[in-house]
Amino acid sequence: MDTLIKKVDAENPDESVLKEAAEIIRAGGLVAFPTETVYGLGANGLDGEACKRIYEAKGRPSDNPLILHISDRKWVGRLAREIPPAGEIIMEKFWPGPVTIVFKKTDIVPDSVSGGLDTVAVRFPVNTVAMRFLALCDVPVAAPSANSSGKPSPTRASHVEFDLSGKIDMIIDGGACEFGLESTIVDVTEDIPVLLRPGAVTFEMLTEVLGEVRVDEAVFSGNAEKPKAPGMKYKHYSPLAEVILVDGKDSEEISRKINALLEKDNEEGIKSGVLTFDERAGNYQCENILRMGSENDFKEIGANLFKMLRKFDYMNVDRVYCETVPAEGEGFAIMNRLFKAAGFRTV
Ligand code: TXA
Ligand code: MG
Repeated sequence: MDTLIKKVDAENPDESVLKEAAEIIRAGGLVAFPTETVYGLGANGLDGEACKRIYEAKGRPSDNPLILHISDRKWVGRLAREIPPAGEIIMEKFWPGPVTIVFKKTDIVPDSVSGGLDTVAVRFPVNTVAMRFLALCDVPVAAPSANSSGKPSPTRASHVEFDLSGKIDMIIDGGACEFGLESTIVDVTEDIPVLLRPGAVTFEMLTEVLGEVRVDEAVFSGNAEKPKAPGMKYKHYSPLAEVILVDGKDSEEISRKINALLEKDNEEGIKSGVLTFDERAGNYQCENILRMGSENDFKEIGANLFKMLRKFDYMNVDRVYCETVPAEGEGFAIMNRLFKAAGFRTV
């Protein structure tokens, strides 16, 4: 199929383009659209057959459930069987915004959305293009990140085009995503809310308004038996190159380690690269150096991370040594994605 690609202004999107896109959704088609986190691949979330097409286009395992995107809180009452106090608080404090809430689901949620679970994940994004598009759809829109399964999530329309062109009906190009990491996910179906995936709404922000919050073990371990967010068990966010995280007591020790590894790779004919920070790029003897941003600017690092992992793919690098950030505040989400890209390997 031909994929229609339409550019819109991020603040003042052309209504006729969004209407065309909403018509495609209502007719059972697939539309990729920007959000403040990453691009989503949308289908009518109440149409089980339309949602099945998402799994085909992405090559995604069908036991991995989809998030339903809304632009009006009225939908929560129709999709969720109950709204516990923690859910009310998160909606009140952080919606619209980059946090997804897992509720017990009602019967209108198709099995192809819930992946066989009795819960549903709901998100109210804050991006202008997303909000107007969702309002015109006038149904909840099921949307995973708009990448091929196993690839880093797309933060630009060009990433979606690279992965899914020819497999979906339309891409709305609304420019670069503000945060660049997928939404925080919180399960409120148990007595104590559980953080299933860290994101721009941080663990600290959640505990401040909710009190106690548990962190699902899949967030920092590759061998959680049964992660509560099924997607966390897949090797995600991953470039073709092998990613190795390099830790150390200071930047000097880290650069010494990495330079020694680079030298060894060079001798063995392995093409390796380094993913580092602006201030540290000069520390390396290597042709393939990419920067995530300034070492203390976690917003910038988060917004650039997936773009840089994709760049290494396009550069045909075999191995990437990557510097790390402290896993606090916004650094928690960055480290979770880096750990996953690296298959939890650190040296
Ligand atoms: O920022 C985002 O959340 C982006 C944009 C497009 O909104 N979407 C996104 O979707 O990241 P996806 O499908 O790539 O990741 C959704 C994650 C998966 O790990 C999935 O297993 C989990 O959410 N999930 C979905 N429904 C769930 C449920 N009912 N219970 C637990 N986890 C769920
Ligand atoms: Mg995804």
